[in-house]
Amino acid sequence: MTKERIALVGAGAAGGALALALHQAGYLLVGVASRTLESAQRCAALVGNPPATTDPAPAVVNADIIILATPDGQIEPACRAIADQGVIRPGQLFLHLSGALTADALAAARNKGAEVLSLHPIQALADPVKGAELLCGTWFCLEGTAAAISRAEQLVKALQGESLIIPAERKALYHAALCVAANYLVTIESIAVTLLEQIGIDRQAGLKAILPLIAGSVENLSHSGLPQALTGPISRGDTATIARHIDSLGNIPPAYQAIYRMLGKETVELALEKGGLDPEQAEQIRLLLTPQPPDPCLIS
Ligand SMILES: NC(=O)c1ccc[n+]([C@@H]2O[C@H](COP(=O)([O-])OP(=O)(O)OC[C@H]3O[C@@H](n4cnc5c(N)ncnc54)[C@H](OP(=O)(O)O)[C@@H]3O)[C@@H](O)[C@H]2O)c1
Repeated sequence: MTKERIALVGAGAAGGALALALHQAGYLLVGVASRTLESAQRCAALVGNPPATTDPAPAVVNADIIILATPDGQIEPACRAIADQGVIRPGQLFLHLSGALTADALAAARNKGAEVLSLHPIQALADPVKGAELLCGTWFCLEGTAAAISRAEQLVKALQGESLIIPAERKALYHAALCVAANYLVTIESIAVTLLEQIGIDRQAGLKAILPLIAGSVENLSHSGLPQALTGPISRGDTATIARHIDSLGNIPPAYQAIYRMLGKETVELALEKGGLDPEQAEQIRLLLTPQPPDPCLIS
């Protein structure tokens, strides 16, 4: 089967990585357009030297699949500008890479008869060369028409990737889940470092000290999955240790105390699922994690 011809509009980190990965997988890049000629030329040099321009029209005209890899806020206007140039043919596939937006951002192309899709690589892409390496074997979230999804699955397969297919109305929840997985992980580590700071460990040393612990947990998630990757005092039903933790929280900001208690309660549920905790211990720990109202006899 002949491979579809690809045009890239938006030659940044993600677009460059995907274009390079597809080039390495044998796809023909027929044009690279970007806001600046320098970016377009830099990317074109990596993907077989197709014409590099600041005007997307010539790239779009020659392509079967158009990857719109501009920042999220530019996807809709860039697509509208292309549609207004009258260069879109029915049967072309327009896709963007945003995790937050649906294929509706490409409505201007759909109105001209193109298939539209959002194809979100679940990967952190900082530069085209390293990014192209990371994209091989990665997971992609696909959302769009059935015809668009089936064409995009060929691209994902060529990258030895995996597809998650979701409906448009679940895209925001999907993105919220990824935000919890990646961004909130960083926030939680920042809280941990702040707690270490309270006992005199500077932030840099604190972060360095916990990095192997974080890496070990990620490794456990990868090997053992959920809920087996869970370790620690709640997982072991170590009520006395949790009681000592609660005692130690007195002087830390109330928001951090609330986070400790809330995540602790979620951890109890995970530990029950894992089987390291009996229901009686679970109840004791839930009680410890619930803030107690002040004793009225102690209030003068
Ligand atoms: N980076 C990631 O880890 C990652 C992961 C998954 C999905 N994504 C998605 O990928 C998309 C691109 O993100 P990114 O991180 O690659 O951003 P980026 O590095 O800032 O690249 C965006 C590129 O778009 C170009 N551009 C901006 N406005 C344009 C316009 N109107 N027409 C043509 N080109 C335009 C810029 O061009 P110039 O360089 O010429 O100024 C820039 O090179 C976003 O939708 C993002 O959500 C990113």
